[in-house]
Amino acid sequence: MPNAPKRVLTVVGARPQFVKLLPLSRALRRRFHEAIVHTGQHYDDEMSRVFFEELSLPEPSRHLGVGSGPHGAQTGLMLTRLEEAIVEEKPDVVIVLGDTNSTLAGALAASKLGVPLAHVEAGVRGHNRREPEEQNRIVADHLSDLLFVPTADGVAELKREGITRGVHRVGDVMLDAIELVEDALRSRTPAFERFGVESGRYALATFHRAANVDDPVMLEGLIAALAESEEPVIFPVHPRTRARLAASGLDARLKEAPRVRAIEPVGYLDMLSLVRGARVVVTDSGGLQKECYLLGVPCVTADRQTAWAETVRDGWNVLVPPESGRLGEAIRTFRPRGARGRHYGDGRASERIAEILARFLGEA
Ligand code: UD1
Repeated sequence: MPNAPKRVLTVVGARPQFVKLLPLSRALRRRFHEAIVHTGQHYDDEMSRVFFEELSLPEPSRHLGVGSGPHGAQTGLMLTRLEEAIVEEKPDVVIVLGDTNSTLAGALAASKLGVPLAHVEAGVRGHNRREPEEQNRIVADHLSDLLFVPTADGVAELKREGITRGVHRVGDVMLDAIELVEDALRSRTPAFERFGVESGRYALATFHRAANVDDPVMLEGLIAALAESEEPVIFPVHPRTRARLAASGLDARLKEAPRVRAIEPVGYLDMLSLVRGARVVVTDSGGLQKECYLLGVPCVTADRQTAWAETVRDGWNVLVPPESGRLGEAIRTFRPRGARGRHYGDGRASERIAEILARFLGEA
């Protein structure tokens, strides 16, 4: 009788992880039994369900229903429930993705139970330890047995921190995801048409990082920059940002800005379509900075640092802190210079990850 397939348990919970799951889960399911555990960090339909439906992602085996909360409470509840899930599912390896609190909880739960841990998007550093995402990355990397690194920079970052074992540069699963939806994207009406804007004649804005939106001064800088735009600005508003806009009264200011169109968060296909049609994107999202680069759209990043320095070095991304007062001007005037490189691999990162896992688990 052939041996039963090895068991992998993949932890997801927040929007960017559902996108990464698309290529990764396909590659994993060709070789392994995969249990997906959804922590429930993101729970609104437009932050979670829409991704599973639109991308036909496999239904999670478990929903932990953790929801929002302060970091300690949110991460603690995840840890408790993930520990139970891992004990019951008995995986041969736990996989965590990216840099969210779900990543951190998954990494802690697996390593405390002595289950091998693999981190997808390892080695990424924004060099700001006050950011929760940076804290999550560092802990996940230092606990991992296998580190799947997207870029050459990531390998160098890990080396500086003394991590050289189990490190594999595989490319970026977000490029794999874009390639998987190319056809679907081509056959749809471009999303920007629904919002009454023309290709190449609008800006696309997103903000959600705590350092930007939880501080009313920073948030005001962001809204002021959008409000001074002379071209239409499409602004899909993250639930965290919507809550902070309401709490600070800045939502009234947004409504008065004639060119800004605040909309609900959109699904992955619409987002890629909006990026592709934009003249410029202004954001604090790491994933979006990378998507802009991959799709050849200039990006203005509302931050002092970036975890994706390649995009800045190549001249396709510029860092402009929201409190600088220069964000509006940067959105108007930034033009990319230089060629784009192939820093993020060849669209086969997920397959490589599955191959390396198979070898690690003694299957290859
Ligand atoms: C999280 C991740 C970030 C990732 C981002 C993508 C952490 C520390 N941060 O930030 O790395 O880039 O997701 O979106 O894990 N909320 C809702 N509905 C939802 C989800 C969130 O209303 O479906 C609101 C809640 O008010 C909550 C707030 O958003 O308090 C923040 O959610 P949280 O899970 O802390 O992180 P994000 O800001 O979404």
